[in-house]
Amino acid sequence: MTSTSSIQPHNGKLLVLLPGLGAVATTFIAGVEAVRRDLALPIGSVSQMQTIRLGQRSENRNPLIRDFVDLAPLSDLEFGGWDVFPDDAFDAAVRAAVLDSKLLDPLEDFLRTIRPMEAVFSREYVRRLDGPNVKSAKSKYDLAEALREDIRKRISETGADRAVMVWCGSTEVYMRPSACHDDIEAFVEGMKKNDSAIAPSQLYAYAAIMEGLPYANGAPNLSADSRALESLAADRGVPIAGKDFKTGQTLMKTILAPGLKARMLGIHGWFSTNILGNRDGEVLDDPDSFRSKEVTKQGVLDTILQPELYPELYGDLYHKVRINYYPPRGDSKEGWDSIDIFGWLGYDMQIKLNFLCRDSILAAPIVLDLALFLDLAGRSGLSGIQEWLSFYFKSPHVREGHIQEHDIFIQHVRLKNTLRVLAGKEPVTHLSENYTLEHL
Ligand SMILES: NC(=O)c1ccc[n+]([C@@H]2O[C@H](COP(=O)([O-])OP(=O)(O)OC[C@H]3O[C@@H](n4cnc5c(N)ncnc54)[C@H](O)[C@@H]3O)[C@@H](O)[C@H]2O)c1
Repeated sequence: MTSTSSIQPHNGKLLVLLPGLGAVATTFIAGVEAVRRDLALPIGSVSQMQTIRLGQRSENRNPLIRDFVDLAPLSDLEFGGWDVFPDDAFDAAVRAAVLDSKLLDPLEDFLRTIRPMEAVFSREYVRRLDGPNVKSAKSKYDLAEALREDIRKRISETGADRAVMVWCGSTEVYMRPSACHDDIEAFVEGMKKNDSAIAPSQLYAYAAIMEGLPYANGAPNLSADSRALESLAADRGVPIAGKDFKTGQTLMKTILAPGLKARMLGIHGWFSTNILGNRDGEVLDDPDSFRSKEVTKQGVLDTILQPELYPELYGDLYHKVRINYYPPRGDSKEGWDSIDIFGWLGYDMQIKLNFLCRDSILAAPIVLDLALFLDLAGRSGLSGIQEWLSFYFKSPHVREGHIQEHDIFIQHVRLKNTLRVLAGKEPVTHLSENYTLEHL
């Protein structure tokens, strides 16, 4: 990345478009409005709460990130979205049952103004879902054109200057790229011929990129993760990022595993299971949707622990991930990790982690940060895959030939150094100024 401080200023409103107005999206929208009204704090949002160190630690220069880089302020945000169900954001938030009525009721008037546009949806890709608010057209190409029209309409309705899109829709069945994903010509042809390898989330990503909107994918879906859409984004100067918000059990895994590895403690096995009862859990109850999740969750330990470099410590690691749909819990997930580790001379130990988490409470600030950072990336002239946003994802979307980075601490340093470079400042290496033997 080249050092630049030529960020286009954030004039005017920023429209955040969300395919999928479910638990995560409504918790995000209601949360932003609650913060704007001083009813709550944006806890969990790096862009809003975190400081960034400049220069040496002793210089004590620690501005808030949002004061340091030119991010759109929350007061500039407008919202829009699509969903298979016609519920407005208030009804959808009540249904999702993440936020209580004490927080939601004062926001009712505002949330009722956000009504979902008709979705591009097919049960072929999300089998456990069916709803009436769905577009119909002859071809997938026509559906993508209709989404582009929706984007332009919502921009004009809200008077927004710029827009970004963050996928908050359901997890689609597991898919691999096929011939129609090789390049954009094949992709357009595929849409026109209704190729079954093109799922709705890919049409949203295509529409966003064609309209110049930065795009983030919060689910494990293929979506923008194909040569065709990667090159389209690079050619059109549009930043993209994905996949699958890093919350809950995987967040804990990428916090714990780097620490165990740093101390050269071995791991025999890592068993992760959880129960959750929200609509996401219901969708993931379908084995083909679960397969998409399993793949994004599974890769994490291998890249952090590097068993090829440390075969004695991690060569035989058995990693198992289970998700169980259990309606009584709603959005309040309970996760258990049983980790079998070993230390000095091979002696065994165990770690038990019981995380009573709230999925959407962990995901909502990620949506906010991605919207603001992708808008910043767009105004800074960055395009294509934004690996510096890996921090937010279970399965970071990386350029062909690059290896995903899962270690949250490395991801965090990279995120902040990218912000420093974008603002024309020096990256921080955590070494002292005169890194010589006498100064260690
Ligand atoms: N909550 C978390 O911690 C978390 C973490 C990582 C990833 N995710 C992913 O984020 C997504 C949203 O999670 P959620 O808990 O809000 O789920 P949810 O089921 O509450 O919301 C998803 C919404 O998307 C809608 N939808 C599905 N397909 C659509 C389409 N093609 N177009 C428009 N709308 C569509 C559904 O009707 C639903 O309202 C899921 O894919 C989930 O796997 C969530």
